[in-house]
Amino acid sequence: MSTVPDPVPPLDNQAIERLILAAGNRDEVVAAVAAELGVEQVAAVLADEVAFRADIPVIDLLDKPVEVQLDVVHDGLRVSHVFAASHGVPFQVYPGTSEHAAMVIEYRLVDLVRELYGPAQQRFAGRRRTVPRFEHAHTAHPDVRILTMMRAAHQAIVPLLAGIDKPADLEALAARYYSDKGGGLHWFTPHYERHMNALRDKPVRVLEIGVGGYMTTTYGGGSLRMWRRFFPRGLVYGLDIFDKTVADQPRVKTLIGSQNDPEYLVGMAERYGPFDVVIDDGSHVNEHVRTSFRTLFPYLRDGGVYAIEDLWTAYCPGYGGDEGATAGSGTSIGMLKALLDDIHYQQHSGDTPAQPTFEQANVVGIHVYHNVAFIEKGVNAEGAMPAWIPRTPPAA
Ligand SMILES: C[S@@+](CC[C@H](N)C(=O)[O-])C[C@H]1O[C@@H](n2cnc3c(N)ncnc32)[C@H](O)[C@@H]1O
Repeated sequence: MSTVPDPVPPLDNQAIERLILAAGNRDEVVAAVAAELGVEQVAAVLADEVAFRADIPVIDLLDKPVEVQLDVVHDGLRVSHVFAASHGVPFQVYPGTSEHAAMVIEYRLVDLVRELYGPAQQRFAGRRRTVPRFEHAHTAHPDVRILTMMRAAHQAIVPLLAGIDKPADLEALAARYYSDKGGGLHWFTPHYERHMNALRDKPVRVLEIGVGGYMTTTYGGGSLRMWRRFFPRGLVYGLDIFDKTVADQPRVKTLIGSQNDPEYLVGMAERYGPFDVVIDDGSHVNEHVRTSFRTLFPYLRDGGVYAIEDLWTAYCPGYGGDEGATAGSGTSIGMLKALLDDIHYQQHSGDTPAQPTFEQANVVGIHVYHNVAFIEKGVNAEGAMPAWIPRTPPAA
């Protein structure tokens, strides 16, 4: 018999972050946090995460949904969710059990917290209990052979578990969630992968300026979902001048404000930062890009990355850029060029300033590609070339 329990109140992002931080710890630490947050609430957030991370099923053998049941067990308690797989659409998840589930997949709660929110695992066998029930599922699909039922179940189970078992490819995520960071208009995804990979496995906080969809409040958030998936342990914040709460979901929160309002940015960063990643994909107006960088770079953690997209507007007067082949000092590109000088402030002729600017002291790397730049933060204090090294090349 199928069962449907009463819904439980959802966990907020602070609670989810506590789980994420506990997930790298010993079982008893994870169990204590789960008990404090509520086992049913934790199981619900894990089920949502499994559904979110699952691949889109390709089921060509049945035209009715195939169900898979996920049971999370802890301290004598069993919390079940049913995942319904239909061809070409995301899994639907609902709490409870199903007598037609083709398989029951059982995890210890502590193990599933660790699989989803812990550092990447090198564990390949014995991760979960699997109970095949193809004959039960067959009763919902009596018109096909049981062997066909088993194969269709396979087509549902594999994409469901893919999100738990395998890290996702960023280009594929951009396509899936409709972000224009890859695939044609821009080719940013390989650059993002290169510069974000070191952070991928960390409990990061990501801020993206520009949620997408402009004034359409019912649309946007493609890249926020992409980052949620790319950073499995991350909290993702999206800032936009328009209301984008439509994009809010576990581990994703949208905020309303302008990237050209330093006072707002400081208040927002004090509350939700510091960030490990900031991405400016907002108005692309040169003045706004510069204001956001100046204001938010101090709220980036050391080891963090600040990305600026759509640098083409530096050459576009309509966005406050400059006409012609050289972007001047008031543009985003002009700012990047000045940062190159800042990185080398200890080499400037004359005395090294006693008090370097914030950028001089903290920008440690700049990588510029067509239309996108990545600025790395750290301690920029390697020391100048010593005075005894001649300042002219040796005579030939
Ligand atoms: C190109 S879209 C963002 C696309 C999204 N990042 C993605 O990859 O799917 C730009 C967004 O920036 C927002 N925006 C425009 N001016 C802004 C400002 N001053 N501050 C914050 N967001 C702004 C727009 O409303 C729009 O939704």
